[in-house]
Amino acid sequence: MFEHKSVLLRETIDSLNIREGGIYVDGTLGGGGHASEVCRRLGEGGRLIGIDQDADAIAAATERLKEFGPKVTIVRSNYENIAAILDSLEIDLVDGIYLDLGVSSYQLDTAERGFTYREDAPLDMRMDQRNPKTAADIVNTYSESDLYRIIRDYGEDRFAKNIAKHIVRAREEHPIATTGELTEIIKAAIPAKIRATGGHPAKQTFQAIRIELNRELEVLSQSIDTMIDRLKPGGRLSIITFHSLEDRIVKTRFKHNENPCTCPPDFPVCVCGKKSKGRVVTRKPIVPTGEEIEENKRAKSSKLRVFERGQER
Ligand SMILES: C[S@@+](CC[C@H](N)C(=O)[O-])C[C@H]1O[C@@H](n2cnc3c(N)ncnc32)[C@H](O)[C@@H]1O
Repeated sequence: MFEHKSVLLRETIDSLNIREGGIYVDGTLGGGGHASEVCRRLGEGGRLIGIDQDADAIAAATERLKEFGPKVTIVRSNYENIAAILDSLEIDLVDGIYLDLGVSSYQLDTAERGFTYREDAPLDMRMDQRNPKTAADIVNTYSESDLYRIIRDYGEDRFAKNIAKHIVRAREEHPIATTGELTEIIKAAIPAKIRATGGHPAKQTFQAIRIELNRELEVLSQSIDTMIDRLKPGGRLSIITFHSLEDRIVKTRFKHNENPCTCPPDFPVCVCGKKSKGRVVTRKPIVPTGEEIEENKRAKSSKLRVFERGQER
């Protein structure tokens, strides 16, 4: 059973200004929670293209969106391939695109997928199981300095240096194969006092390895400009992020697309010729209500930012 509670659902749907006959792209389809709400608002001629790289998500969404028939096209791919996907469907521009980043509750809760530190399973963490590289490859082959950098930058863990050192020391004995082994190594690298008071000691390191393995930040930052380029005039791009690293990327790329001009501020007129592609709709990100956070812990750190393509293309 694919269990996942959609985050910022009403806010995301509202942000897209859905037109009955419009074409929408869900770049992180998951269980199809957001997508089914979009489909419900589509009339004759409306279309939803749903992309996910995870076979289990594709199967669950296919079942859930069955009732919408030919309005829905589901593609197993990475959303970084959005331009090629739209080209292959002979679609030039669309009315809206949205992303709900990170892993689904289903991925987290299915121990064999290796995302969770709460159960012992092979160290996998691949969102796309067709990729040969797994979390075990990162843990067992990256240099100590690379492990340190990842855990510091993507996990923002203040014990990153010590965790990297402990990983390298442990793997000298034998390769680290399971989430349980890795969790024990991380615990041993964190002072007992902190271990007793903070959140789960492995949370940040697991996040860091997952981000590195699935190239999450690289894919996000490389895709935003392309997505904006594929919007119709007035079309919208809405993105839900779950941590500050993602949010910073979205905020920066949106701002750059609103004002790409590189002329010095004291120039009376623009000479660089770089034109705005639209406007940032959300000066401040939209965050969940207290009620939503109470009902769904995963919503706690979520933020929604929205960009609107200008009328001139
Ligand atoms: C948070 S879930 C989406 C849940 C969905 N909005 C819902 O309401 O059911 C994120 C999904 O995005 C997928 N995903 C994450 N990054 C992706 C990427 N770069 N390309 C394609 N799918 C991705 C994951 O496999 C996961 O199924």
